[in-house]
Amino acid sequence: MSSTDALIKLAESRRTIYQLGKNPVVPDSKVEDLVRAAILNVPSSFNTQSTRLVLLLNKDHDRLWDITIETFEGLVKSGTVPEDVWKERTLPKLQGMKAATGTVLFYEDPAHIKPFSEKFAIYKDHFAPWAEHSNAMHQYFLWTGLESLGFGANLQHYNPLIDAAVAKEWDLPTEWRLISQLVFGSPEGAPGEKTQKPVEERLKIFGSK
Ligand SMILES: Cc1cc2nc3c(=O)[nH]c(=O)nc-3n(C[C@H](O)[C@H](O)[C@H](O)COP(=O)(O)O)c2cc1C
Repeated sequence: MSSTDALIKLAESRRTIYQLGKNPVVPDSKVEDLVRAAILNVPSSFNTQSTRLVLLLNKDHDRLWDITIETFEGLVKSGTVPEDVWKERTLPKLQGMKAATGTVLFYEDPAHIKPFSEKFAIYKDHFAPWAEHSNAMHQYFLWTGLESLGFGANLQHYNPLIDAAVAKEWDLPTEWRLISQLVFGSPEGAPGEKTQKPVEERLKIFGSK
């Protein structure tokens, strides 16, 4: 298979899978290599390199989702989240996350964005969105890369609710802004059905020979 065909095949097989488990897929070192490859090879505007990644495996992954559950328990207690929504929807969902193997946390470090905004005045308002674009490229690389290792994954956004507790637990800089959480584990279920809007409405090609 050509490397382009392999890339397309991987893009096709990257899906959202919520049923994840802790069955062995590959040694942790393979995931560590993949995350290192993301940090080294994913591009950023003006080579800003403002994305920060935190890989939580095994018991540290479990701790992340316990922290998220504890955060929500506080919100239920204060009446911010209704008890029935918590019991019927949110808690089972969070327990599903905890049942997986690992989570990649995606952050942006504003200290590495601000100097570029100051130096390049004409692009000043673009650096923040460009940083988000680059962060999303890290997310896509790792989502697809984890699929290539045999994991299933889903992308979550419990930020900013959990930011402070997570920074405290792993002693991370409090200035880092949490963007998303990619949960991965052994695939224990199939992805849901996915509809596609017509490709002709979404893609235009001109000048083809
Ligand atoms: C930028 C972005 C944000 C997303 N946020 C969430 C999320 O917070 N929770 C969730 O369960 N899925 C989230 N998803 C997953 C999408 O719902 C999913 O990718 C989409 O329905 C297509 O399905 P597929 O991933 O199986 O191709 C997100 C996906 C993207 C690209």
